Amino acid sequence: MSESHSKIITNIKAELGSRLTIMGHHYQNDHVIQHCDLRGDSLELARKVPGLKSEYIVFCGVSFMAETAAMLASDQQKVILPAPEAGCVMSDMAPWALLDAVMRKLTADGRRVTPLAYVNTEAAIKSVVANYGGSVCTSANAETMLKWAREQGDGVLFLPDANLGMNTANRLGIPESKWARLDVSGMAKNLNPEDLADKEMLLWPGLCVIHKRFKAEQIDEIRHRDPDALVVVHPECHPDVVAKADADGSTSFIIKYVEEAPPGAAIYIGTEINLVERLAKQYRNEKLVRPLYPSRCLNMAKTTEEVLAATLQDLDGIDAVTVPGDVAHKATVAIERMLDICS
Ligand code: 13P
Ligand code: SF4
Repeated sequence: MSESHSKIITNIKAELGSRLTIMGHHYQNDHVIQHCDLRGDSLELARKVPGLKSEYIVFCGVSFMAETAAMLASDQQKVILPAPEAGCVMSDMAPWALLDAVMRKLTADGRRVTPLAYVNTEAAIKSVVANYGGSVCTSANAETMLKWAREQGDGVLFLPDANLGMNTANRLGIPESKWARLDVSGMAKNLNPEDLADKEMLLWPGLCVIHKRFKAEQIDEIRHRDPDALVVVHPECHPDVVAKADADGSTSFIIKYVEEAPPGAAIYIGTEINLVERLAKQYRNEKLVRPLYPSRCLNMAKTTEEVLAATLQDLDGIDAVTVPGDVAHKATVAIERMLDICS
């Protein structure tokens, strides 16, 4: 991007000093990430918010992440999402009113179903989850949180990412015969709790369109071409893809995996392209890092260096990310439950 946008950002950062923190998710592009004081995966970023002292927290990511930051920040802090229209396709697949309708049906006969929501959901979903005694998880702690959720009752509703749900169930050895993908169409009119009585792992039919593009055949092709190559993927990929990979984990896991791979290794990565390209650049003289397939999140891409510069020039004029008090109160219970369990 242009040098002037970079200069504007650098100057405002220097002027505001400790009054400003810029946070960025690993899927942000390099022009933005270079200006971030803190970068991380969803869990790492959420964990860092309560310790921040700055007046302005500019969150380079998507709306559910900024909402989480706003709920964990103090009333004196202003959280800003530079591209307010940056949503998440997966998060949109789980509207709160539909979750509420599904949970009412599932628990109508007194069954204790615990909802476990991926953080990639709107605050209102997290508040419904809290109402039903559930919690949230990220890709970095899904296993711990699913273990916890299983201990709370006699079934878990995992949402919205069915792939993360199935991959985590596999890790915990929950057999496929105990899984059920829910039909939530038409306000869940076809959902019959009696059919699900012996199912322990109830899966919301959501997914990440960016990770859906990775296929098992792409791994077959790499193995054929280079049998020594390593393949690491994000657990938002389909279980068939995860089964063929050498490893799977959150974005921070993937970063560590590349770091620890031996010099000269060829590593193919199944996650968002900005992170893959950054790693490829970082290790270009030591390891060959390639995308399994180039897949870009267009919502993450909405935050450009230009948008960040414009945001910093108008910190007091731009609306803060806010979550209505009652929703925020309950959603925070669900988020803090996760942070406590995983502390
Ligand atoms: P993590 O940061 O938890 O790895 O999640 C990836 C993602 O899809 C964020 O939108
Ligand atoms: Fe949502 Fe997938 Fe983009 Fe993450 S990568 S913000 S889950 S659409």
